[in-house]
Amino acid sequence: MPRPIHVALIGQKFMGRAHSNAWHQVGHFFDGPRPVHLHTVAARDQGELIPFAKRWGWDHCSDDWRSLASIDEVELVDVGTPNHLHAEQALTMLAAGKHVACEKPLAGTLADARQMRDAARKAKSSKTFVWFNYRRCPAVALAHQLVRAGKIGSVLHIRAQYLQDWGGPSTPMSWRFKKSLAGSGAHGDLNAHIVDMARFITGDEVHEVHGAVARTFVKERTLEGKRGKSRSDVDDCVLFVASFKGGATASFEATRLACGNQNRNTIEINGTKGSVRFDFEDMNVLHFIGPSDDPRTNGWQRIMCTSAGNHPYADAWWPDAHVIGYEHCFTNMAADIVKVLSRRKPLVPLPDFEDAYQTQRVLEAALVSARERTAIRLSEVK
Ligand SMILES: NC(=O)c1ccc[n+]([C@@H]2O[C@H](COP(=O)([O-])OP(=O)(O)OC[C@H]3O[C@@H](n4cnc5c(N)ncnc54)[C@H](O)[C@@H]3O)[C@@H](O)[C@H]2O)c1
Repeated sequence: MPRPIHVALIGQKFMGRAHSNAWHQVGHFFDGPRPVHLHTVAARDQGELIPFAKRWGWDHCSDDWRSLASIDEVELVDVGTPNHLHAEQALTMLAAGKHVACEKPLAGTLADARQMRDAARKAKSSKTFVWFNYRRCPAVALAHQLVRAGKIGSVLHIRAQYLQDWGGPSTPMSWRFKKSLAGSGAHGDLNAHIVDMARFITGDEVHEVHGAVARTFVKERTLEGKRGKSRSDVDDCVLFVASFKGGATASFEATRLACGNQNRNTIEINGTKGSVRFDFEDMNVLHFIGPSDDPRTNGWQRIMCTSAGNHPYADAWWPDAHVIGYEHCFTNMAADIVKVLSRRKPLVPLPDFEDAYQTQRVLEAALVSARERTAIRLSEVK
């Protein structure tokens, strides 16, 4: 019987549920080389933790996340807390010899992200992972495979938008609207994902941010459950244009104020021979156009990425076109983490702290570009 991977999780709200579900389901759907044991969940509120642990199958719970470092059995610590906590929690766990899987963005600030990257470099026996879960939508993983195999030729344009609409003035204050806790707003939350997807699909790196605009439309918000208001000091949207090293032009837009777009995470990549296009609101589908022998039938192909043996991760799930959803991408990622911790290769590359630090540099370049109203070379952002 292979040795189980004892996992501990910090955070028990949105991502706490998504990650608990992934760790719980991975052994049911994937023939992983090692079983996963949901050892301990930690968060702030002991009253909420006990029912949470029971519901999701965690054996223990704790309102002291630091205590996880001294549980010898625990091999992997999964960080699903607000951005300002990522660095301290990851550094503590790396120092204790744990593997660490951290939510995105890697950190609220580039300085924190750099510390995490450096600590990961030093902790040679620890693996690190960052939950850029959209890489593990089968359609996005397929786009990665097709583009890397040259099916659309050389990449010329990358056009990515991540549009949500929940951030209007009636949305109460939370950590997501405080720079000291989140680092940034829509930018770190949403542009982080599409910058990662662009890098992942093309294999190329941003060379320069030519210009950016950031806006805060909603400047104060009601304090939840209390009287009074508090200042919202993060961006509600950030747009920027960039060039990649290979010469491609790119545009990125993230907003929480695009009425009617609830989770519209889209990317289109145009190459010299074809294009790929993805929209998370239709996440099982990849649109592809390539060279054609007959101009009469030339046009976009709508590929349902659910065919076992043909499409990434499809073997683990349901028959053709019995579609999957948001939570499956997290389970796909958990399956790849289990592989890496068993010295096997993930199906498609997993982002580690080193990789996520490169995304964080791009985010930083865009913020500096917006603030200083100037172009920023990535070589200037260390
Ligand atoms: N990958 C994705 O698609 C995705 C989606 C949403 C959020 N996220 C990221 O996940 C992280 C968490 O976001 P969320 O939406 O789950 O937030 P959330 O507010 O829903 O949950 C945060 C959790 O952290 C815990 N927490 C806060 N302060 C703590 C402390 N000092 N010690 C211990 N626990 C503490 C809270 O108790 C809560 O359980 C963020 O980094 C966010 O950017 C990623």
